Amino acid sequence: GLGVINIPVVVHVIYSNSNENISDAQINSQIAVLNKDFNATNSDVNQVPAEFAGRVADSDINFTLSQVIRVSSTRTSWGTNDAMKSSANGGSDVVSPDTHLNIWVCNIGGGILGYAQFPGGAAATDGVVVSPQYFGTTGFVQAPFDGGRTTTHEVGHYLNLRHIWGDGRCRQDDFVADTPSSDRPNYGCPSYPTAHCRSNDMTMNYMDYVDDACMYMFSEGQKTRMRALFAPGGTRDGFVN
Ligand code: ARG
Ligand code: ZN
Ligand code: CA
Repeated sequence: GLGVINIPVVVHVIYSNSNENISDAQINSQIAVLNKDFNATNSDVNQVPAEFAGRVADSDINFTLSQVIRVSSTRTSWGTNDAMKSSANGGSDVVSPDTHLNIWVCNIGGGILGYAQFPGGAAATDGVVVSPQYFGTTGFVQAPFDGGRTTTHEVGHYLNLRHIWGDGRCRQDDFVADTPSSDRPNYGCPSYPTAHCRSNDMTMNYMDYVDDACMYMFSEGQKTRMRALFAPGGTRDGFVN
């Protein structure tokens, strides 16, 4: 197998005020959450109910902070059209996307926590975007999204994961066999069991829409789907060669 996969991370901090110019400590707190969540060493993994406990995955994907780029801007809200990924637009250009995960931290606005590009898209916009108040666990963070799980969720998309309800009705697949079918996102902190589509939802999966404190697992099927990207010929094989 591929063993432990290491992902060097470039963080672009694009800020219009001192809060948005998040500290190195805040950035490091996010890297720490990624390393826990993608290796099932998060302290809340023991909350997974017995029904799903056998499906908890240690994905063996590690993250190391490679570079922090800070860009001051007068722009206070960036939207979701990738403008922050271009220095010509006052943002910051992507760095080595074949071998680095790029994360832009800037105020998206519109109540959007973060967004991601799936593998196989344009190199110039490859990576994830997260608003600063939802990034990391210390500093300028805002409950109930102060657990660093927005970035875990967005990196899940970057590694080819869909929302567990497949963004559709019961028959709409997320292309992962061991995540139960659902027909909707869950929000807040659902009690177990929460059932849709004749089975219990895996509401505690990082790819649902629950609060940070209420998501604490990837599944084995999700691990297989993510790691397939890194096999020879896979869309992200540049990280292992
Ligand atoms: N793309 C989702 C959004 O912006 C992110 C949801 C993250 N959920 C969370 N609990 N942090 O709405
Ligand atoms: Zn999502
Ligand atoms: Ca499924």
